[in-house]
Amino acid sequence: MLRLLVLHGPNLNLLGTREPSVYGQASLPDLDKSIVRRAGERGIAVQTKQTNVEGELVTWIQNARGHFDGIIINPAAYTHTSIAIRDAIAAVALPTVEVHLSNIHQREEFRHHSFIAGVALGQISGFGPTGYLLALEALTAHLDRHPRPRATAKKKPSASRR
Ligand code: DQA
Repeated sequence: MLRLLVLHGPNLNLLGTREPSVYGQASLPDLDKSIVRRAGERGIAVQTKQTNVEGELVTWIQNARGHFDGIIINPAAYTHTSIAIRDAIAAVALPTVEVHLSNIHQREEFRHHSFIAGVALGQISGFGPTGYLLALEALTAHLDRHPRPRATAKKKPSASRR
């Protein structure tokens, strides 16, 4: 079974109430539910996580190696600032799709540049929550075309021996 990690960056926990004219009415739990539902229909295991902390995203990406087959990430504002997230994606070399709810290229100039785009398979921007479902399709199609040894679920830590 394919295992995908879906990461949401800063302020995306406020979806639904945050600038709804830009980011829509759907909350993050709504968004996650639709991703999990679609993944279930495709027989894919997904884990979704959100944080406001850049280093946490870096650690989650590092830890994904061996446990996930690919990553879907909306790095939110870190898209435009974070060399650390870019380097983490490059380091783990997992196929990664960058997603933005809004069309960052139609917005302020400072949103036009993505540090992530250069290490992502591709970028999906401007389709709202549908973008995550498109990313799921794009990533699974890529993984079908480029099979790799499958990731394995993380083992529960075993009791330590004294
Ligand atoms: C965003 C676009 C970013 O520019 C912004 O900082 C976000 C959300 C989007 O999904 O449209 O927080 O990534």
